[in-house]
Amino acid sequence: MKEIKGKKIVLGISGSIAAYKAVVLTRLLVKAGAEVQVLMTPAATKFVQPLTFATLSKRPVFTEVTAGEAWNNHVELGLWADAMLVAPATANTLARLANGICDNIISAVYLSARCPVFVAPAMDVDMWHHPSTQRNIDLLATYGNHLIPVGNGELASGLVGEGRLAEPEHIVDYLGRFFGKSQLLKGQKILITAGPTYEGIDPVRFIGNRSSGKMGVALAQAILQQGGEVILVLGPSALKPEGEGLQLIRVESAQEMYDAAVSAFPDCQAGIMAAAVADYRPVNMATEKIKKSDDRMTIELVKNPDIAAQLGRQKQTHQRLIGFALETTQGEANAKSKLARKNLDFIVLNSLQDSGAGFGVDTNKVSIFSSDNKVYHFELKTKDAVAQDIVATTLLDIKSKD
Ligand code: CTP
Repeated sequence: MKEIKGKKIVLGISGSIAAYKAVVLTRLLVKAGAEVQVLMTPAATKFVQPLTFATLSKRPVFTEVTAGEAWNNHVELGLWADAMLVAPATANTLARLANGICDNIISAVYLSARCPVFVAPAMDVDMWHHPSTQRNIDLLATYGNHLIPVGNGELASGLVGEGRLAEPEHIVDYLGRFFGKSQLLKGQKILITAGPTYEGIDPVRFIGNRSSGKMGVALAQAILQQGGEVILVLGPSALKPEGEGLQLIRVESAQEMYDAAVSAFPDCQAGIMAAAVADYRPVNMATEKIKKSDDRMTIELVKNPDIAAQLGRQKQTHQRLIGFALETTQGEANAKSKLARKNLDFIVLNSLQDSGAGFGVDTNKVSIFSSDNKVYHFELKTKDAVAQDIVATTLLDIKSKD
């Protein structure tokens, strides 16, 4: 698989009977052209000998943080990897990772890793459904890890249900889609509003704001990367986005953005409201340039239509609506109230209090709240990486446990 070729993958194997499937998984990854560094917990070595993995991966397997006099450098491995994959991840390993318990080589590398982490759980059905496990899964998801869904079927205990390790082919496919130009949004059309709006005072002046449109454009690119189509309704922005599958509608005022968005939304599967829409506009725009006269000047303003709220009203059950909230105080409470008020499915909160987040800069730090009360917190990242997180969480459900 060309998406995986040349990728450096740390594969953590923990102590489950499903460790035997990790043999096939290692073989498939190596065959796809990946460099695979296997880590095993001591319990995993009771199921399959490290020699099997060392032979298949052509690298020594690490089972301890220290090996004799030597120190297996977990920090180096965490930085070396393009991806870390924990498969199978037992209930115990999930608990370690979720709680930062650093008592074996897998959790040590996990805590040091800067790359994306994929976790493929495996356990018996009741262990899987236990609230403790589900809480750990939720925690791992909120840290931005990718949970590969468990399979359903016959389990080693003889019971039948959820908890089987995903099939190795499925896991490789999952990684491939992550690395490559995947087609997870193929056939889907997503509406994005982005950038500022300018509300004309006279032919040369306007009321505007400092939005650059970067976040919305990064979102458009993240969707195109997943094979989706985008209708990008972009306010005045210096950016010139392009790409296959992108339809760009340039607008200036909130009213123009509203008209374009309302007419495009019925054909779309989702709308992402990333625009910083001016809340008010001058009641009358002067047709001629206003001349300087008195010491004071008053411009009467009238409220603009709320695009997100309108789309929230016309939203059909198959459509998703995602909004943004940029707050200076009481971020969570304000974001949640906007989520409810505008009938959104998700709201992305960025706080102006976080340095590096907000207008004009290339980085952002967000939390995502869902209408079913889930919360996902993310680190400060580039806007491109944040866009991928938003798309994965709100459109692909990748970060959710199901
Ligand atoms: N929004 C919109 N149309 C508007 C105002 C806001 O589509 N006229 C969208 C934004 O794109 C964002 C969300 O609504 O996704 C929240 O925007 P924000 O300006 O934070 O909310 P307001 O409702 O304007 O609340 P306030 O300014 O009072 O905080």
